[in-house]
Amino acid sequence: MDHPPDPNEKPKRRPRYSGKNPRKFHEKYKELNPGRYGQHLEKVLERGATPVGTHRPICVEEILRILNPQAGETGVDATLGFGGHSSHILPKLLPGGRLVALDQDPIERPKAEARLRQSGVPESALLIGGINFSEMKSFLQVSQISKVDFILADLGISSMQMDDPTRGFSFKVESSLDLRMNPLVGISAADLLAQIGVNELEAILIENSDEPRARVIAKALVAKRPRSTLQTTQVLREVMAGFSKQTQNEQGDTPIRRVFQALRIAVNNEFGSLDQFLNDIPEVLNPGGRVAILSFHSGEDRRVKKSFQAFERARVYRKVSPEFLRPSPEEQRSNSRSKSAKLRWAVT
Ligand SMILES: C[S@@+](CC[C@H](N)C(=O)[O-])C[C@H]1O[C@@H](n2cnc3c(N)ncnc32)[C@H](O)[C@@H]1O
Repeated sequence: MDHPPDPNEKPKRRPRYSGKNPRKFHEKYKELNPGRYGQHLEKVLERGATPVGTHRPICVEEILRILNPQAGETGVDATLGFGGHSSHILPKLLPGGRLVALDQDPIERPKAEARLRQSGVPESALLIGGINFSEMKSFLQVSQISKVDFILADLGISSMQMDDPTRGFSFKVESSLDLRMNPLVGISAADLLAQIGVNELEAILIENSDEPRARVIAKALVAKRPRSTLQTTQVLREVMAGFSKQTQNEQGDTPIRRVFQALRIAVNNEFGSLDQFLNDIPEVLNPGGRVAILSFHSGEDRRVKKSFQAFERARVYRKVSPEFLRPSPEEQRSNSRSKSAKLRWAVT
């Protein structure tokens, strides 16, 4: 019979795997078993990694300073994720306030909602929307919320999505090549690669990840098709092995990382959703409203910067951040996934 792990029990010797490395999720990630591997969890945090199945919110202090959530106010967390930022914001809205938390991921969203509700927030203080943030404006209208006081967006994918070996977000793990945050919408990256032509794929690689060898890579991926479909992360990795590290950019991104990023942005229509969201923000903010956006690559940051500046010129935003903010050196050291984050803000 199964029994709960004893926190004082010494870690057992490493289980024997059939190969050199663990293949299964639970074999690979000891931190899934924190009782047995308590010390391991500390080591994961010490080396700046994120325990699997969790997500560490980035720039929390900076975001709280910018958004300055007050009791009785209504705000939007457009990217709920693990609920990290929401869990810091919610208590500040009580009594009387409300947080609208959105996420398009039907797999992780219910878990985040359960965690937040278990923390004892009043039922009425949290409204969850299983939608794309490009639909924020109509969601607020339908929910009879005319204006809000602040909006937060922490773009991209969560660590839980990245670590889940069934979803295809990580090229390091064998899985089907899906890459959708909402697997119920659109087509998978595997299906996209099965249909796309060289020119279109080249354009996606340039637009979504500034890939310098976009044409050669697009040709190599399309040439693979008659012999094998690019259905798994493994097959894509094999094709990309020929391009390995030849063209690292200044962030140390390798071609395979850029190809995954470009495909992810394409199948989720990330730029289209972000453009719509950025356009709608001023319409739903009260006068004196605050918005903060964390982005993780140049394509996102460019859009946020341009939108903020255009609305400032049109005197819709009274003030915008003159430059982006970065996580402190200490945060970058303690959470390696925060390293590429850029934070911008604006005030109506
Ligand atoms: C970086 S994580 C957010 C983490 C969160 N701030 C926290 O502290 O736990 C980004 C989340 O936003 C969601 N997301 C990304 N783009 C979205 C969009 N266009 N609409 C709705 N949700 C989106 C992803 O599914 C993911 O869960």
